[in-house]
Amino acid sequence: MINYMLAKLEAQMRQSIALQKEGNLPVALGGYELIFEALHFYEVLGYSLQIKNIQRLALAAQPTQEMTLYCHGLILLYRRHYASAAEAVKAALLLTPENPLLHLLMARIHTALGAYSDAHATYELLQELDPTSSGTSDGFFMLAAEQEMPGDDYYIWLQRFHDWLKPASYIEIGLGHGRSLALAGHETRAVGIDPYQGMWERLNYVCPHGPATLFPLTSDDFFASHDLREVIGRETFDLAFIDGLHLFEQALKDFINLERYARKDSVILIHDCLPIAPIVAKRARCTGFWTGDVWRIIPCLKTFRPDLQIVTIPTKPSGLGMVTNLDAASTVLADNYDEIVRYYLSLNCPESFAKQRVVCSVSTVDPEDFAAIFLVGTKG
Ligand SMILES: C[S@@+](CC[C@H](N)C(=O)[O-])C[C@H]1O[C@@H](n2cnc3c(N)ncnc32)[C@H](O)[C@@H]1O
Repeated sequence: MINYMLAKLEAQMRQSIALQKEGNLPVALGGYELIFEALHFYEVLGYSLQIKNIQRLALAAQPTQEMTLYCHGLILLYRRHYASAAEAVKAALLLTPENPLLHLLMARIHTALGAYSDAHATYELLQELDPTSSGTSDGFFMLAAEQEMPGDDYYIWLQRFHDWLKPASYIEIGLGHGRSLALAGHETRAVGIDPYQGMWERLNYVCPHGPATLFPLTSDDFFASHDLREVIGRETFDLAFIDGLHLFEQALKDFINLERYARKDSVILIHDCLPIAPIVAKRARCTGFWTGDVWRIIPCLKTFRPDLQIVTIPTKPSGLGMVTNLDAASTVLADNYDEIVRYYLSLNCPESFAKQRVVCSVSTVDPEDFAAIFLVGTKG
């Protein structure tokens, strides 16, 4: 299956190169980003030779030296070789000092390096060079998220939960390109649900221990048409991740549907519970970097389900809610669903991030103490 994915990524690379040659640079660059990111995942798994060959295709196809350096910088950024990435982009900037593309990449590298004032200055310069660039406003949000939530990103936290819980069953709602789904360990039976991405042709990642079972359905349709116990071959699941439609009422429905199949010590993770600014949490998307209003689920569960153990991990870029001490027999949320939704939709997202942290019950516990404090009886 990994060879299938690598062949698919190579084909995608050829497509992006063709698009670049036709003059469709923005779409081509979007493709390069996704492909380089995925290639790094397989590189870590030991597929370096195939990866290098695919990377070389893009490098060899670049029409100018600065674009070759740009691609080098991008590859190095995804490999987390930030200092070398900065060197590549600096060299490219010597050739075309006013190239917005290069400044945007440099700002991202500064952010990754923790050089926040350099990143800020570069985004400001970029605003002058290209006032229409949506990359700049998204970059400012990413920078703010990095400053407010330094440390590990949510993929690293997801990996930790897999390591701590060693779940026999893992359910993911909302797959994107499959990166989070591919984190499941060899002991895990993974299930992925997504109406648009729930098929292998659409994903870029596959778990090295064996493919997940995919359902190309909305989460509502999945739960209406399937008994999760039959899908996983057990009465209860161990770990679930809600990352589908980013609206409060949907996240709440996903939570209710999952909890019916939970044990007390099952864990439900919810992405995007800590928006960096109210504008990224709007229900109607108006920014590239978008969380929707999923955050409402945290104060909602805190109030209506005081029996639950709830905490939000301040992990970039948008926080990860964790809920355990679950109760499959509870009907409080389902019985009051319409009223709850009406009330919580009337809440405003706090203007200050400090207040958002309080509203979302942010944990201050270090990763090394987290499992002992919040996950009683883990297998790890
Ligand atoms: C942000 S992406 C998920 C990213 C992925 N979990 C990761 O971390 O790599 C959100 C996904 O939710 C999917 N989605 C949207 N509406 C959905 C629904 N009603 N049920 C399930 N998935 C949905 C979208 O197709 C998209 O792939």
